[in-house]
Amino acid sequence: MIQFIEKQQLFHLTTPQSSYVMAVADGEWLGHLYYGPKLADTTGMEKAFRLNEFPFSPAVNERDKVRFTQLFPFEYSFFGMGDYREPCLSVENEYGMNGVELTYRSFEIIPGKVIPEGLPHTRGDEACCDTLDLLMADDVLGLDVHLLYTVYQDLDVIVKSVKVVNRSDAPVTLKRVLSGQLNQEPEECEVLTLHGSWGRERTITRQPLMTGSVSAESLRGVSSAEDSPFLAILSPGTTQTMGEVWGMSLIYSGNFLAKAQIDQAGRLRCVMGIHPEGFSWPMVPGDTFQSPEVALVYSGEGLGKMTRTYHDLYRSHLIEKRWLTQDRPVLVNNWEATMMNFDTDVLIGFAKAAKEAGLDMLVMDDGWFGHRDDDTSSLGDWFVDERKLKGGLKKLTDAVNEMGMKFGIWVEPEMVNEDSELFRAHPDWRFQLPDRKPGALRQQYVLDLTREEVWEGVYSQIHDTLASANIAYVKWDMNRYLSDVGSMVREPGCQGQILHQYVLAVYRMQERLLKDFPDLLLENCSSGGARFDAGMLFYSPQIWTSDDTDAIERLSIQEGTALVFPVSTMGAHVSVCPNLQTGRDVPFNTRAKVAMAGTFGYEMDVRNMDPEEKAMIPEQVALFRKVHPVVREGDYYRIASFRENHHSDCWMVVTKDRSLAYMTYVQVLAAANRPGVPVRMQGLDPDAAYEVICDYKGAMAAHNGEMSMGPEASHHLGRFNGDTLMKHGIIVPRVRGDYQALMYEIKKV
Ligand code: GLA
Repeated sequence: MIQFIEKQQLFHLTTPQSSYVMAVADGEWLGHLYYGPKLADTTGMEKAFRLNEFPFSPAVNERDKVRFTQLFPFEYSFFGMGDYREPCLSVENEYGMNGVELTYRSFEIIPGKVIPEGLPHTRGDEACCDTLDLLMADDVLGLDVHLLYTVYQDLDVIVKSVKVVNRSDAPVTLKRVLSGQLNQEPEECEVLTLHGSWGRERTITRQPLMTGSVSAESLRGVSSAEDSPFLAILSPGTTQTMGEVWGMSLIYSGNFLAKAQIDQAGRLRCVMGIHPEGFSWPMVPGDTFQSPEVALVYSGEGLGKMTRTYHDLYRSHLIEKRWLTQDRPVLVNNWEATMMNFDTDVLIGFAKAAKEAGLDMLVMDDGWFGHRDDDTSSLGDWFVDERKLKGGLKKLTDAVNEMGMKFGIWVEPEMVNEDSELFRAHPDWRFQLPDRKPGALRQQYVLDLTREEVWEGVYSQIHDTLASANIAYVKWDMNRYLSDVGSMVREPGCQGQILHQYVLAVYRMQERLLKDFPDLLLENCSSGGARFDAGMLFYSPQIWTSDDTDAIERLSIQEGTALVFPVSTMGAHVSVCPNLQTGRDVPFNTRAKVAMAGTFGYEMDVRNMDPEEKAMIPEQVALFRKVHPVVREGDYYRIASFRENHHSDCWMVVTKDRSLAYMTYVQVLAAANRPGVPVRMQGLDPDAAYEVICDYKGAMAAHNGEMSMGPEASHHLGRFNGDTLMKHGIIVPRVRGDYQALMYEIKKV
């Protein structure tokens, strides 16, 4: 709900359990007052601006204005007029002078959602949300700035974005225009970010913030494996179930800046948006600029509640609706098994074996096009390599379809190799700075998709490939970061637009692809999970989480990813052991249980498997089909973290009506002389009785307090009260050996 309280000149935005309050001070300055647990009433809150307290000195009191600007909690900050903290907006006038000052003008409450054109965004009609449009302006520059706040009725979420309009008759240049700000006055706080690298994406990192600043950022042209466009402020000691959390998640896939800063008065300001480095946006009179959206979530019940709020927001209001209830195909992907060394016969062999094992889809990965035998060639040539796929794509696809299997392919539309027909015909289509040799990465270069002829040239090839055969799924990869970004076909003053326009061009291409092939399942990927962000989720309901397929390493990667992103979006496969990336051996059972936390599939040579393991696949697929609807539509609870405790990992998914839950427990490291441990479940109905079944036979013995495994014991653990399972927990047995996974089914009776 959005309320304007005229007497106080105050805006009160409420969600089921949170309040967000801002007010206009001295008739012109929009200041932030509060974001936290829901308030029944805001009477007197504007006094918190302390306008008469030294050194708060508004101009009307004829005191020093700059004492005021350097301390006032601006709702949306601006650079050049005496606010020395990290600003959201910075603008240059036509003479290159940098200064902008926003004052409040008016507001409008719009039922439903205002859609940011060309950008991925949360959705919603008037039944589920309202949008507040606050008009701020700078009359000297002739600039209008609309601060947009969408408030969801059933979720503790506020989605912010900013629209800038040049209504003057002179040009201006935006040097930075961030999506939103969060202000708090904490006594102490921690900052949580998701740092990483290739193979270690989105590792949860927490640090206290006392002075100075902490940031997460990307200058790589994509959101990156090194940092994720997410930041949360936590009250000290916050756990999964306790403590206050303020999350900020940017719905964008390019360069970003997320920064938390403590000012001289001990106040916190967090800003988030497109990274200002390399960004510069000229606006002629009449131009409009729209920022990406940032989704703010407040939780007064620890990190777990924040997680479930983001999951609900992104599943119900960001990802295309049909994927909330539609089953995802269980796939086999040939990449780790064959790399680029395959042909039609090999793939038919994969499809046959996969069909026998009960899988749904074969995905042909990198190496099917041009004359690509290794990574030195053919990116850009999206036509079949007849040496490998004799008779073409349709023949292969038809043969796979005849077996009752779906077919999917890998593409990397944004790239080109020097050894390609595309590059020989259009050497100027890649990003390149004049007189400099562009740097290669994985032997490849990035195409300048901001140029219409390049965009069309690439899209038409991808379109024709998909139109030529019955392709149900596309894995859209992006295997290098951007460098050498510049364009000789642009005006000199417009080079700072390229990085953002590149992201918009990728969005436009994925949007068009889905318009032309509406049944397509798109999975994004970027050297593993280097572009796993809310922006890409608008187009693809699943993203390849990491190239690190080691089930034990995956525990932390999936934990960090699922902190913000729905579990059903995490591409996760069972792969061969010793694992390709780590050399570790993990039982086949555990590999499957870990992959079941996300979308499920196999990335191994299903033709030549250990017969014992092969025989386990149908059972695993059947289990996945039972668990997946709960993963997809239910609530996720993080019970224990190997990253923190160094011995075990545990998570649960629970249906919204709390009638069915699955809990996965991975004993990572075995320990001598350690009895079974009670593990406290979450999310169950405390008043209901549940039947608990564990797929590990020794569980019963442990439950009875015995140390032995008791392999013959029944694995029905019996009936428990929900309250008992949550407060006392269930005894998880001591299992022999490292890397053992157990799955519990908890069913209401
Ligand atoms: C990236 C992906 C892999 C695979 C290769 C193919 O690294 O993350 O899954 O598709 O590219 O080149």
